[in-house]
Amino acid sequence: MRTAIAFYSRSGNCRFVAERISKIISEAGGFAELIEIKLAKDFSSIRPLDYLLAGKSAIMKETPQLARMLFYPEQFDNIILGTPIWANDMASPMRTFICENLAALQSKPVSAYVCLAGKNGTAALENIRGFAGIEKLEATLSLTNPKKHDDAETDIKIRGFCEKILNEYKITH
Ligand SMILES: Cc1cc2nc3c(=O)[nH]c(=O)nc-3n(C[C@H](O)[C@H](O)[C@H](O)COP(=O)(O)O)c2cc1C
Repeated sequence: MRTAIAFYSRSGNCRFVAERISKIISEAGGFAELIEIKLAKDFSSIRPLDYLLAGKSAIMKETPQLARMLFYPEQFDNIILGTPIWANDMASPMRTFICENLAALQSKPVSAYVCLAGKNGTAALENIRGFAGIEKLEATLSLTNPKKHDDAETDIKIRGFCEKILNEYKITH
C-alpha cells in the first residue's frame, strides 16, 4: 500500500501527526510519503499580523497560492489529508490543495485528520469531504493540539485511524 499524507501545518501539530502516521504505516509494511503543502507567501510566523491574515483567509474561504510542490497522485493507492482548523473550517492552504487535486481525490480512497485547539473537528471534516466532492472519507481523526498533548490517548487515536486505513488493504500490525 502506497499512501500520500498531504498536510499543511502552521505550528507543527499536523506535521507531528503526519510523521506519526507515516511511522505506523511503515512499521505495518506499507509505504507512506509526506507531502507538505506550503504557501507561496507564507503566513506561518508568530507575528500577530500573520495570525490575522490566516484567520481572514479562512473566513473568506480564500484559496491562497501554494509554493510549487511535487505530488504525483498516480503513484499512490490512497491519500490522507491533514489540516489545522482555522475559524471552524479547514485551513485555507488545504482548500487550495483540494481545488488543485480534485480529480485525484475523487478517484482514490481519501482519509482526513484535523488538529484544533478545541475538541470537535467533525464539522470541518464534513466540510473537507463536501468540498472535495467525496462520498465518504475512509477514516477521520480529530486531535486537540497533539504536539502539546502527546499522551496515550493521542497515540491510541492515531493508531485507530491508521488501523482503519491498513485494514482496507488487509495490512495488520
Ligand atoms: C488563524 C487560526 C484560526 C484558528 N481557528 C481555530 C478554530 O476555529 N477552532 C479551534 O479549535 N482552533 C483554531 N485554531 C487553532 C489551531 O487549529 C490548532 O492550534 C492546531 O493544532 C494548529 O495546527 P498546526 O500546528 O499544524 O498549524 C486556529 C489557529 C489559527 C492560526
